[in-house]
Amino acid sequence: MKKYTIYKCVDDKSFGLRAKSVFLNAVYGARFYPEAPEDLPRVVLPTGNTPLPFYSALRDMADDVPRFEYCQLDEYIGLSDGDERLFSEWLKHEVLDPLKITNRMIFNSAADPHSEVERIRDWYKEKGKIDVAVLGIGENGHVGFNEPKSQFHARANITNLAQSTISSNEAYGKGAIPKQAITLGIGDLMCADETILLVRGEKKADILMQALFGAVTEDVPASYLQDYQGRLTIVGDASALSKIPKSQLLHH
Ligand code: F6R
Repeated sequence: MKKYTIYKCVDDKSFGLRAKSVFLNAVYGARFYPEAPEDLPRVVLPTGNTPLPFYSALRDMADDVPRFEYCQLDEYIGLSDGDERLFSEWLKHEVLDPLKITNRMIFNSAADPHSEVERIRDWYKEKGKIDVAVLGIGENGHVGFNEPKSQFHARANITNLAQSTISSNEAYGKGAIPKQAITLGIGDLMCADETILLVRGEKKADILMQALFGAVTEDVPASYLQDYQGRLTIVGDASALSKIPKSQLLHH
């Protein structure tokens, strides 16, 4: 059986604190830190409910979080600046403004999506890889907006959202969800030096087990993590980790 570093956290507070400490170690350990601003570690962060305790823990020490460059993971297509459904807006209020993270590689939801994807791909060609990718997982195994059947080698691309993703994101209560999005590809995530997968809630238990210990298949996008060569840490709560063999867990 594969071995992963998996932290099981007893409550949201310890989840947030554990995720924060794994994240800070990763950012401090990233290859560029602490050189010139243009060389800041490139960090991908997810939106969604899962990371909220983590972001709260980061805000509690906002002035002491090391500088990094925020790189957007995914975004809906076709929304105007300032729309509260935008993931960039969510992250801005939740974490980037409070932490005063000014270096931001944001996707433009209102731009022509094909040109925007080209721009993102060119940016990564020029800059290189992601240093730290913090990710959540969807109930269908998506990471970012890489829905089932996304290719493991794909770079930034336009994606049609699964109906289940649209429904779960409508539950965020911010309004109707566009049917298409731009996402970094699994090929981009695969190249990251370090990945921190955050997972909370019993709805994620089955898919997490499948992703980490089931077949490696594009039907379960997160199963790419089994082939991932970078450093991988999973931070979860007891419900999300309930299907994972006890021998795999580091208790917190
Ligand atoms: C959002 C993202 C998604 C979410 C996933 C889980 O930027 O990349 O893959 O991480 O849909 O969402 P929650 O945490 O709300 O269950």
